[in-house]
Amino acid sequence: MKQSPELLYLNLMKKTLSYILWPEPPYPLPYPLPTFIFKRQPIKKLLLFAISKTLNNLGKKRLQISITRHISEDQRIEGNFHPKYADTMIGLKRLDNLQYCIETVLSKNIEGDFIETGVWRGGACIFMRAVLEAYQIENRKVFVADSFEGLPEANVEKYPADKGDRHHMISYLAISQEEVENNFQKYGLLDNQVVFLKGWFKDTLPEAPINKLSILRLDGDMYGSTMEALEHLYPKLSKKGFCIIDDYGLVNCKAAVDDYRAKHKITAELKKIDWSGVYWEKEKDIS
Ligand SMILES: C[S@@+](CC[C@H](N)C(=O)[O-])C[C@H]1O[C@@H](n2cnc3c(N)ncnc32)[C@H](O)[C@@H]1O
Repeated sequence: MKQSPELLYLNLMKKTLSYILWPEPPYPLPYPLPTFIFKRQPIKKLLLFAISKTLNNLGKKRLQISITRHISEDQRIEGNFHPKYADTMIGLKRLDNLQYCIETVLSKNIEGDFIETGVWRGGACIFMRAVLEAYQIENRKVFVADSFEGLPEANVEKYPADKGDRHHMISYLAISQEEVENNFQKYGLLDNQVVFLKGWFKDTLPEAPINKLSILRLDGDMYGSTMEALEHLYPKLSKKGFCIIDDYGLVNCKAAVDDYRAKHKITAELKKIDWSGVYWEKEKDIS
């Protein structure tokens, strides 16, 4: 059966955003070498350092040692690794789920905008905007909420579950707003239907200019980040709208979701997307 142009476009977007169309290119070993490389093998490290330095000098900083990395199709589908080049790390199954949820709210006319809390390079939000573009929807917005500087240090007093969390030390997770805007621009999808909410969720979400949501996608990894997004945004989710949790596979995120659902007596069926993602359709307003 022939696919419609809309579905062809959306399938191509998912493949491009997840980078499944290409083998993972080698990535350059930074020079000077980071401390974790050959930490317990000083001779190897010295040798590598000498080669790296010589190449760097000879090539006027344009010659580098690169590391090859094999990524299987299955890993791209499951989104269970940290990609170097993809615009999203959520994998194809969770992109398919996002498309299913959006198409469902569109077809049932469920009122509200879309938001992702925790966007990294922006890929999942770019895909939300692409779905609106595909179906020529102009009266819904995509909210893009992130610190654009990585995760916060744990607030252990308020969220003891986050004690010892080290996400804030991972510079790989800190992507600037400018880089995310450029990523939207690459796909021709940066316009006034995309609204950036820059800052910590605890500061931006209570004041966000959002009336109603039909898609609430949470990807903030920690207990606190998940709980803050639920507390400030779940009441704005329309009935029959979707709440999608990217990180239910992480103990702290799962605890926040379970606590919030228990506190507000949310009994809507929690459906599994893959090894990490779950979602539910909102059945009733919370008290
Ligand atoms: C795992 S990444 C998101 C991956 C992304 N959804 C994708 O499509 O690849 C987590 C993101 O959440 C953001 N984040 C987590 N907690 C936050 C908080 N409390 N306030 C603001 N940003 C937060 C980080 O900056 C990071 O960009």
